[in-house]
Amino acid sequence: MKLVNALTICVLGTGSLFASSLIQKASENGMMPIPADKAELMKLINDKNDPITKEKVELGKKLYFDPRLSKSGIISCNTCHNVGLGGADGIPAAIGHGWTANPHHLNSPTVYNSVFFKAQFWDGRSPHLADQAKGPIEAGPEMAAPASLVEQRINSIPEYVNEFQNAYGKNVKIDFTKITETIATFEKILVTPSPFDDYLNGNENALTKEEKAGLNTFIDKGCASCHNGIALGGTMQPFELAAKYKFASVGDFKGNAQGMVKTPTLRNITETAPYFHNGQIWSLSEAVQEMGSVQLGIAISDEEAASIVTFLKTVKGRKPDISYPQLPESTKDTSKPAFD
Ligand code: HEC
Ligand code: HEC
Repeated sequence: MKLVNALTICVLGTGSLFASSLIQKASENGMMPIPADKAELMKLINDKNDPITKEKVELGKKLYFDPRLSKSGIISCNTCHNVGLGGADGIPAAIGHGWTANPHHLNSPTVYNSVFFKAQFWDGRSPHLADQAKGPIEAGPEMAAPASLVEQRINSIPEYVNEFQNAYGKNVKIDFTKITETIATFEKILVTPSPFDDYLNGNENALTKEEKAGLNTFIDKGCASCHNGIALGGTMQPFELAAKYKFASVGDFKGNAQGMVKTPTLRNITETAPYFHNGQIWSLSEAVQEMGSVQLGIAISDEEAASIVTFLKTVKGRKPDISYPQLPESTKDTSKPAFD
């Protein structure tokens, strides 16, 4: 009798194991929460060789919002990865310098939780954020600013020079690499814990019955076989496994050399329509049904799709507080905007 009581207490004490078989099922299927414990989260996102500090994050935020990193002086990272719009831009294909659309008709992915991705870009060609950030600044259809122009602009602004010295020490060389590494440090804090994480971290009441049923449908249909890990995505996966994507003809994107595509995160997915690499699907339930036919070879009913969408609403996360930064003034030496 005593033993039974002790067992009951033990079981209830660990976040109620009975009710939590779904938590266990999610975790057995590779779905992982953002750690609730700050130190544990830091272990995942921090880089010992370039540790996250308050100074670097503040400076990185300024650079992220600073349109002078573009040739025209009007396009910043935030133009296409708007932190108030789920970290994306809400249009099918990104539009950059000179009103040029992405040449492959690619949609801007969210920057939120990108620190958890195993690969960056739709074809996974970049391994990490600091490397990634160089691409869009120099790319003609995006910010169109050569490294030397970016270095010139930043070094011509004494307030920026000061802030780099405060962040990295007096002898810091403010080159393109340092600038993009600093932006990456800001991006690392763009982590958004959600009710789904609260649930996986043991709060049984964080999700309603309907939301739990949706999670269960998501797993049973096989979605978690690719949308897993902390990012619920972020790895390279084969695409069009079972059928051709119905909007495949829009743009010429075919994945990497092996035809693999970076699985998008499903975190904050309700905020980042339109969907798919070419931004052709505006409705989340339609995207879910398309995934069923393209990747799993199954028909997902309207009811099942609605249930999965009910779950997907629970991965909308709490955003970090990002106040719009005041940017340091240009000087007479700062290269002027150019529109050619
Ligand atoms: C003109 C719009 C535009 C601008 C400006 C822009 N990006 Fe992007 N970004 C995109 C598009 C489009 C992609 C996907 C491109 C691809 O896969 O080839 C992307 C991809 C990314 C990714 C990879 C995310 C993933 O899921 O793979 C990150 C991170 C990112 N951008 C950060 C930045 C940063 C930092 C800046 C500023 C230095 C920036 N972007 C400027 C449009 C833009
Ligand atoms: C075999 C791996 C795989 C499976 C299984 C899978 N997905 Fe995907 N998912 C992907 C890839 C890869 C993409 C990106 C496809 C593209 O745009 O080219 C994607 C895209 C998506 C998108 C659009 C995201 C965006 O930001 O544009 C949603 C929503 C989605 N999947 C949900 C689901 C759901 C729900 C299921 C289960 C019914 C599922 N996926 C099953 C790999 C998978």
